[in-house]
Amino acid sequence: MDRIRIVGGNPLNGVIPISGAKNAALPLMIASLLTDDTLTLENVPRLADVEQLIRILGNHGVDYSVNGRRERQGEGYSRTIHFTARHIVDTTAPYELVSKMRASFWVIGPLIARMGEARVSLPGGCAIGTRPVDLFIDGLKALGVEIEIEGGYVNARAPNGIQAGAYEFPKVSVGATHVLMMAASLANGTVEIRNAAREPEVTNLADCLNAMGARISGAGTSTIIIEGVSALSGARHRVLPDRIETGTYAMAVAMAGGDVTLEDTNANLLDSALDSLRAAGADITPTNSGLHVRRNGAGLDPVDVATDPFPGFPTDLQAQFMALMTRARGTSKITETIFENRFMHVQELARLGADIALSGQTATVKGVETLNGAQVMATDLRASVSLVIAGLAAEGETVVNRVYHLDRGFERLEEKLTRCGAVVERISG
Ligand code: EPZ
Repeated sequence: MDRIRIVGGNPLNGVIPISGAKNAALPLMIASLLTDDTLTLENVPRLADVEQLIRILGNHGVDYSVNGRRERQGEGYSRTIHFTARHIVDTTAPYELVSKMRASFWVIGPLIARMGEARVSLPGGCAIGTRPVDLFIDGLKALGVEIEIEGGYVNARAPNGIQAGAYEFPKVSVGATHVLMMAASLANGTVEIRNAAREPEVTNLADCLNAMGARISGAGTSTIIIEGVSALSGARHRVLPDRIETGTYAMAVAMAGGDVTLEDTNANLLDSALDSLRAAGADITPTNSGLHVRRNGAGLDPVDVATDPFPGFPTDLQAQFMALMTRARGTSKITETIFENRFMHVQELARLGADIALSGQTATVKGVETLNGAQVMATDLRASVSLVIAGLAAEGETVVNRVYHLDRGFERLEEKLTRCGAVVERISG
């Protein structure tokens, strides 16, 4: 299994191109199931999760082809992929595939809308929390879908199609908002979704569905109205920049010091995280094509954060911010409100010398003067990258094991950091 070796102590200087967002690309790819025409997606990141979803969609009959031309000559980040679901050959998403990636459960939305039936394995537990699917089921039932759960599978039927209706989420869910929006695009009438997720990835999906002929308004607010249409067509759509990758590299610069331009991204995608970073002492300036992050050698100030659905502080940046706070000049409190078990990085950061006490959903982080390199390992994507950030500022050598977690969500991380002067290398095998 590959590992990443980091020798800490070097500031970061240069330019980091930001890739397309994993969490936008995945639902957009799934939307290709809604039409027999070709959906062309630009700026699709090269990530293990994207490859896995291509395999899963292939099982339902989606063909794909990748543009020969590289988007960024010589560098080759992200690419254009054409997806065509001319015929849906299977409406079952089996356990073997769904258990590998939770987002693949979302195929239930397009399959039920286009085919009137879907049989999708329950995704099961996951390292960051129990992550049930009750909101998907209740939401689809509100649109007339008959659902039974049997033998670990959700069996859904809508012989007369998706019906007009309204559903108010008792709790904000990004995935369930994606699914209801996709299913409702082909409804027989108007669907209203209340307390919808407002994440930019939801807006990006709505824009794509509208380009395919859907009639969706209100995406990006908590009430989304969808006037169903009888069929969707193909379209060409660009995956939005990855706000979590953007925030992660901004935090890496704040941690290691230096001066970096994050390119092909947009500061507006992560307002609240940037506010917290500025409060900690990073100097952040939006540019026409991204943002500029600087930190001189001065110590960081402690800042309390609590995760929240968009526009709040993203749970997907919580681990990275905690890494940053391990070296602040004082004590900060970091509260996780979205997932009940998203603190796997705490014990690994402690191996580097961090002083963190956990109590329920809140971590109290006392900044320390120095971190020391060590062998570490994490069991999820964002926890793993928080260890890389800590390693950039630790004295000596840090080795992050189980790099496949990083490969799920960060496109060529070691290359992007090395170009800015970090000592980061992948050790194969
Ligand atoms: C998306 O997951 C992201 N994944 C996650 O990113 C992200 O952490 C999360 O949204 C929150 O922002 C993708 O976009 C592929 P949710 P999702 O449904 O949609 C509970 C990463 O590192 N819930 O908004 O699965 C759930 O347990 C990942 O890239 C129910 O209770 O998250 C959680 O507590 C990990 N019942 C909360 O809602 C349901 O039926 C929010 O989850 C569904 C969710």
